[in-house]
Amino acid sequence: MENTENQMLIIFGASGDLTARKLIPAIYNLYKGNHLPENYVVLGASRSDWSDADFRKNVVEESKYLEDELKNVDNEFISEFCNKLFYHPLKEDYSCLKNRIEKLNNEYGTDNNFIFYFSVPPSIYESLAKNIYEQDLSKEGIGWKRLIVEKPFGYSLETARNLNHALHKYFKEPQIFRIDHYLGKETVQNLLVTRFANSIFEPLWNRNYIHHVEVTNAESVGVEKRGGYYDKSGALRDMFQNHLLQIVSLIIMEPPIGSNAEEIRNEKVKALKSLRIMKDDKTLHDHTIRAQYVSSIIDGKHVKGYREEDGVESNSTTETYAAIKFFVDNWRWADVPFYVRTAKRMPTKVTEVVIHFKTPHHQIFKESDIGNNDNKLVIRIQPDEGILIKFGVKVPGQGFNVERANLDFYYSSLVDTYVMTAYERLLLDAMQGDATLYARADEVEAAWEFVDPILNYWKNSDSKVYGYSAGVWGPENADDLIEGVAMWRNPSANLADDPGFCVLK
Ligand code: BG6
Repeated sequence: MENTENQMLIIFGASGDLTARKLIPAIYNLYKGNHLPENYVVLGASRSDWSDADFRKNVVEESKYLEDELKNVDNEFISEFCNKLFYHPLKEDYSCLKNRIEKLNNEYGTDNNFIFYFSVPPSIYESLAKNIYEQDLSKEGIGWKRLIVEKPFGYSLETARNLNHALHKYFKEPQIFRIDHYLGKETVQNLLVTRFANSIFEPLWNRNYIHHVEVTNAESVGVEKRGGYYDKSGALRDMFQNHLLQIVSLIIMEPPIGSNAEEIRNEKVKALKSLRIMKDDKTLHDHTIRAQYVSSIIDGKHVKGYREEDGVESNSTTETYAAIKFFVDNWRWADVPFYVRTAKRMPTKVTEVVIHFKTPHHQIFKESDIGNNDNKLVIRIQPDEGILIKFGVKVPGQGFNVERANLDFYYSSLVDTYVMTAYERLLLDAMQGDATLYARADEVEAAWEFVDPILNYWKNSDSKVYGYSAGVWGPENADDLIEGVAMWRNPSANLADDPGFCVLK
């Protein structure tokens, strides 16, 4: 199944958090699972004046996962892995970097196949790409060259366009892999399989049968140590523009003609372009809500409000909660409302998609008997990955009382299957040149096109920033957004806790 050629991964920003927390553990797991090619090395590069040994020591110390592995796994096995990690202190002169890359390439037989990974502030993406280009390192011919860029990809439509334009001067689009780690999640990919590998859902997947769609992304943590970054970003840029619109595009896209990267991405772009852009202030006012968490007590402990977090301005209006209602202007989805919300400091960590189906066109049972019996398909992205279908069953006994029952599937039941983490999956795909789970330039721009007017409205109008106590499901005003259509479904972390029907005796 795998065709992974010999190669080198060059990580820029290697002394940063992401390298030790996500990238190196992911590469280690690929090594452990025997997915790395025979000749493979990692070269970390950043401003820190480290040696190879410092880098190796740092990634193990900073990654709790590797530290734990050291306790359980044969030391030699880990040393062998660490021996493939190298470090280069970056100086102004990039020719030294080029020499190092060439030396390692010759010594370890990585066949001139290089992936450059930008885990650096986006403000230096362009100059970094230029330096790589000027050293002739992005040119393909003898070996391939790929570039992985981390989010955020732009800060607005204009900056995203400028960034695409800038990168395209030095790398061709097929060489660029824009990472969105939600696409690496097994359950996000499973949205495609649920829809297109089954015949029971797709006939219902349209305005005739679907009443509304709800996507919730909740985190129980606050901004942690990232206040400085987050305060300039906010929930809409940090989560909605990328991760959540990626999920939305998989829900609303038309069936692609095949499963290759371009076919899938063409449909996703078409889907994102069909999101109805909110243009007037009234719609923006009525269809968007932003809020910030304020201090509260959770489990007997005082929890800081957002404005008290390190790196956050004391009068900040940056949102830690965003809820957006929108429509999709195409034949399939006309008039179906979508409700998408994302927030920090919620009661629990959970991400799920809920497809709410319409009630039957003609109801033969008494309303009092059927109660709230709309069918739902709950696709749980995390943490309790699975799928739940809610449907009505007759309560045994006289009459036609109807209750909801659950049919469920949990990923955890696939005990024998190792589920790769998002970074493992995405890195392996990039190693193999498969860009299906990476965002294309036009995809990112289409998402910004939808988000930009909301950001501008929030910035330029006197739209309110509501407060919500840390640990609750957002501000009460968010109910206004969905009122008249439904109520928010506030999920528990555990899918099994979803009330279904059972007769105990
Ligand atoms: C990141 C955001 O992209 O995703 C973070 O910058 C957020 O703010 C994180 O916490 C959530 O990822 P996950 O995989 O834990 O849901």
